Amino acid sequence: MVLSELVRDSPRTQPLPLSVPRVKAPAGASGTSSPAAAAQPVAPTAPSTAADCGPVFASAGVAGHRVIGLLGAGGMGVVFRAIPPGGGPPVALKQIAGKQCDELRRKRFAREAAATAALRHPNVVRLLGFGETEDGGLYLVTELLEGEDLAARLRRGALPASEVARIGRGAASGLGAAHDAGIVHRDVKPSNVFLCGDGSIKILDFGLAISASDTRLTGKDTCVGTPAYMAFEQIRASRDEDARTDVWGLGATLYHAAAGRPPFGTESRAVTFARITRERPDPLPEDVPRWLADVLVQALRKDRAKRWQSMAEIGVALALGAES
Ligand SMILES: Nc1ncnc2c1ncn2[C@@H]1O[C@H](COP(=O)(O)OP(=O)(O)O)[C@@H](O)[C@H]1O
Ligand SMILES: [Mg+2]
Repeated sequence: MVLSELVRDSPRTQPLPLSVPRVKAPAGASGTSSPAAAAQPVAPTAPSTAADCGPVFASAGVAGHRVIGLLGAGGMGVVFRAIPPGGGPPVALKQIAGKQCDELRRKRFAREAAATAALRHPNVVRLLGFGETEDGGLYLVTELLEGEDLAARLRRGALPASEVARIGRGAASGLGAAHDAGIVHRDVKPSNVFLCGDGSIKILDFGLAISASDTRLTGKDTCVGTPAYMAFEQIRASRDEDARTDVWGLGATLYHAAAGRPPFGTESRAVTFARITRERPDPLPEDVPRWLADVLVQALRKDRAKRWQSMAEIGVALALGAES
């Protein structure tokens, strides 16, 4: 089954009303929280600041939801904190405005909804709804997570090995569930790993996910992701990403968490691509314990056959290392 069929068929997807009059913004609801994660995805591009989303945000209403804040803006769209139609606890509402909603984005967004709908796991954000907005755009509603994404956390510095292992195990568990369902995330990076206030870890953003039976969307789909965390085979546009591609993404993410910088530096996209293709990851700082360095190096092997072969494998390696 292709992911777009899953959107339609999944009993867990509860489409929300599509043509609901916009609700006036309450006084003061002008988006005070700053956008998270300065992600620099290869494609597609989207507004990255609250100001960029001006007209959308100013409307303060999307598909009957009352927008009360900005949670983030990444490669796909803008994510708002919003009150659902009829009231109740706030939710996270991700939106691509109609004018930005070309066919490729439309399909990607549908796949994101389908992949999220297909997964019900404690380490994966839960989908609540998906639909079309008044202006011909698309929106997706997920449970609102309180806390911060890992990219925001890492802007304050690296994390101790025990915390890196804990985050890695949670993320591996969520990604393992996706792989069991035949879904490869393809965009594992700090801004897509969420650290909840209660200590739990959630995987977000299946916007680039692909399932075993999906067709590749277009030629533009050959090289997608964020350079610093992209796997060797993604840089080579091999178009055969598998679970081990996410092992690399998780390795690069945890490397950044342990070292305070990604494994192949932060230079331009071209330099990063070249370094991923030809070089080994930069040496980890000396205070990173040997067991963690070994786990990370094995996640970042260019030859997929030499990497951890599954999320279960890397999860166990992190658990054993943290106990040692
Ligand atoms: N359910 C949520 N609860 C809280 N914050 C969220 C939620 N979903 C996304 N965010 C925030 O918004 C950011 C962008 O969301 P994401 O789904 O990754 O969009 P994009 O595809 O644009 O990268 C995330 O990095 C995170 O900080
Ligand atoms: Mg994201």
